[in-house]
Amino acid sequence: ARPVAPGRYEVTQRTAKVEIIPGTTTEIWGYDATFPGPTFELRRGDPTTIRVRNELPEPTSTHLHGGVNPPGSDGYPTDLVVPRGHSAHPHGGHPSHPGMRLNPVAKDYHYPLDQRAATLWYHDHRMDFTAPQVWRGLAGLALVRDEEEDALPLPRGERELPLLICDRAFEEDGSFRYPRAHDPHYMAGVEGDVILVNGAPWPVAEVSATRHRLRLLNASNARRYRLRLAPGGRFTQIGSDAGLLAAPVAHEVIPISPGERYDVVVDFSAYPVGSAVTLTDELAGDVMRFVVTRRAADDSAVPAVLSRPPERTRAVAMRAFDFRRTGDAGNAAWTINGRPYRPGAPLARPRLGTAEMWRLTSDFHHPVHLHLAHFQVLARGGRPPSATDAGWKDTVDVRPYEVVDVLARFDGHRGRYMIHCHNLEHEDMAMMADFDVV
Ligand code: C2O
Ligand code: CU
Ligand code: CU
Repeated sequence: ARPVAPGRYEVTQRTAKVEIIPGTTTEIWGYDATFPGPTFELRRGDPTTIRVRNELPEPTSTHLHGGVNPPGSDGYPTDLVVPRGHSAHPHGGHPSHPGMRLNPVAKDYHYPLDQRAATLWYHDHRMDFTAPQVWRGLAGLALVRDEEEDALPLPRGERELPLLICDRAFEEDGSFRYPRAHDPHYMAGVEGDVILVNGAPWPVAEVSATRHRLRLLNASNARRYRLRLAPGGRFTQIGSDAGLLAAPVAHEVIPISPGERYDVVVDFSAYPVGSAVTLTDELAGDVMRFVVTRRAADDSAVPAVLSRPPERTRAVAMRAFDFRRTGDAGNAAWTINGRPYRPGAPLARPRLGTAEMWRLTSDFHHPVHLHLAHFQVLARGGRPPSATDAGWKDTVDVRPYEVVDVLARFDGHRGRYMIHCHNLEHEDMAMMADFDVV
């Protein structure tokens, strides 16, 4: 996306018909009528305003996931952009919520960008409808760059590939298939059987036999991946959700839950020219393929020291958040500490400028996400974190009956924040809570 003026973008949410499955058309809801939406190139120290105009049939709210922004620009679930002609008053199917804010036609989201280089993404966050609205296409990437990262010899230009990975299901005519709320598949979260990368099924990318930087984002509603390279190979992780690691970490498998990002380097010079290297998931199968087309000079490198991320500070408080299902078949709900989401009823009040230890427990797979703040994983299942938990993050997969301790820093802005499950159906089914940073 190109700025309309320095530090200013405008993007319009519209429906469009696109070809995803060859020979069929799919109606999407897209930022600038594309799925995924445009990739924003942002810079630390260049505050940016994005005006989102809504020309869709329904209200929206846009959240910049991983951003450290004032809460008024966070894309709070009841801070809605209401399209022209849409009844401003709640009516059938449009419940009212306390503190609901209706912005007619457009809203300016202000991003100070006083934060480290990182792979961020944006997506819809409308109360009760996030999952179906993201499924229709309301998501895209936003890359923040800074001088610390510019100074590194990492692969760049066409050797830097942002990969937004998500699954979708399709009807025979090409339209997206999304189950109704009481479908048995809904409770666990909705998965599709076609894996898309940047909106295309199983794409092929031609690469030279050089290092490439892959910015992996799992933008799926509920599907978790365990990514590998076939016929074998390693990912060198250089960054996590919230920016560069202190030092690279090698992995054979990248487990990535909804909302998480892994910034990795793959060295394609390890494969013969002419070969195909598949990015594959242990369960879903192939995700995409790289074809190594030619040798080429490579002056990139992955330095042993990548960055100096902010240090951990001592926790001044400890709080517990239990992600679980309550009730039984007829009235089951996904809750945090036994409470379904109520806007404006904060569960905690951490102080700005402090860090707290939050203990996350779970009865199922719940990718837990914090808005506007970053954390480090301190322990998983009473043991040190996994190698793939490294760095500052905003989303962590909490597995069934697991205890994950994180150290969260609150050094952005005062006001309303959220914690929620990033399985988007769970989020819509109220596994979400507010907390206030005071
Ligand atoms: Cu990516 Cu509150 O979400
Ligand atoms: Cu978020
Ligand atoms: Cu969940």
